[in-house]
Amino acid sequence: MADARRRGAATGPGGGPPGEVPSQVPDHLPFARAASIFAVVLLAGALFGYDQGVISGALVGIQKEFAVGAIALEIVTSWVTLGAMFGSLAGGYIADHFGRRRALLAAAGLFIVGALVEAFAPNVPVLVFGRLVAGFGVGVAAVAAPLYAAELAPTAQRGQFVSSYQLAITVGIFLAYLVDQALAGPEGWRAMLGVSAGPGVLLALAVLTALESPRWFAKSGRRDDARRTLVALGAGDHADARLAAIEASLRAEHEVPSWRDVFAPRWRAPLKIGLGLAVLQQVTGINAIIYYSDSIFAAAGFTTPAAQTLATTWAIGAVNVVSTFIAIAFIDRLGRRPLLIAGLIGMGLSLTAVGFAFQQSGAATAGQGATGVVTLVALVVFIISFAFSLGPVTWTVINEIYPGEVRGRAVAVATAVNWGAAFLVSGFFLSVVKAIGQGYTFWLFAAFCAIGLVWVIVGVPETRGRSLEEIEASWGQAPGAASALQKS
Ligand code: BGC
Repeated sequence: MADARRRGAATGPGGGPPGEVPSQVPDHLPFARAASIFAVVLLAGALFGYDQGVISGALVGIQKEFAVGAIALEIVTSWVTLGAMFGSLAGGYIADHFGRRRALLAAAGLFIVGALVEAFAPNVPVLVFGRLVAGFGVGVAAVAAPLYAAELAPTAQRGQFVSSYQLAITVGIFLAYLVDQALAGPEGWRAMLGVSAGPGVLLALAVLTALESPRWFAKSGRRDDARRTLVALGAGDHADARLAAIEASLRAEHEVPSWRDVFAPRWRAPLKIGLGLAVLQQVTGINAIIYYSDSIFAAAGFTTPAAQTLATTWAIGAVNVVSTFIAIAFIDRLGRRPLLIAGLIGMGLSLTAVGFAFQQSGAATAGQGATGVVTLVALVVFIISFAFSLGPVTWTVINEIYPGEVRGRAVAVATAVNWGAAFLVSGFFLSVVKAIGQGYTFWLFAAFCAIGLVWVIVGVPETRGRSLEEIEASWGQAPGAASALQKS
């Protein structure tokens, strides 16, 4: 830790105690400013979550109205993640070139258009197009919102700011499950999908009243705007020192970041960590459970659709929301690594138990009672463990480890890889279950937890309490530089 500080001090001018690099934003934001940043981040996350969660309830109605088969339904389900994958790549470019706020405005526009196209779709191709457009918006927001949160957060609360984004995702998923229940019926699917245009409008309004990231202003040569924003964020007399700190870290950066810079050898270490977390978050099975929990519960012996929906809404949806508060409470106190390690252990053990329950029951219909109870309890443990660890920590770390020079694009790459992995897992889950059975499928997810656990222990450094500039200063200067963070 001391090492990282010394290195940081070499790049950052005054403002804080000797040896410290001041963070770019003040330690305490004025209430109204913090609230407006939170509103943007929460609405962007909620829309992301809503689009993830809503489809499970809409599928039945879509199938009835258009009389389509399983493949068309899989496309309607999973192409939102495909749109999000491309949206996140574009989001990085938009966020770097036009600013974090404009990227979020574009995302809000895409949400609104996508939701309306879906709601009024006369046929399946138009519906799929609407899903792609909304997904594209989800991808842009998935890059711009946490990036915005990380750049505007005081160092000591950065984990909390970015975890609030994850909290909003979980609230969005939960609300979608509730809306699905409330609107169940023949034409209900149109309203289920169209409803997200409303929060899209709210997001646009929230962004219009929010401040741009001072770091982005400084990077775009708009020094006065950067200083004015720092003052508005409560920097007062320290505004010049903060700006000098930002400019010092920007000076070390190339003028125009290129894709080559993102993959440059000096940034390999953070790139690997971001991509590793992005993949790990998905291959351990979260979205197989979010999307298909109704059918998992059905296979585990919850016979009526009402019982399945109830289990999904409360055991998955509500537990996911509540458990995310654990991360918000502890991510900046305990750090990212302890949460990841504890969470992966909980996820691995619970997935192993679900696997055993399905193996014991043999055919999906045998021994339903015991399988149902074990599956329910184990999935609750899984969701809790994910919600305080891989869920929020992945987005937090992805948004803090990359150097400012390439942050927008590198975050975009990691986010796109996350969506690509989500697309593969959600697209192939049912086929894998068909090929090897429920039991082995859950053990496969558990095996990824075990591999991930070892990798996190040896390869993921602690970033708690370090300013973005300090983290940046710790990479690539000497072999093993990241371990300076790890020891903190
Ligand atoms: C993941 C999503 C997932 C959600 C569940 C997010 O962090 O990126 O893929 O659906 O958590 O809460």
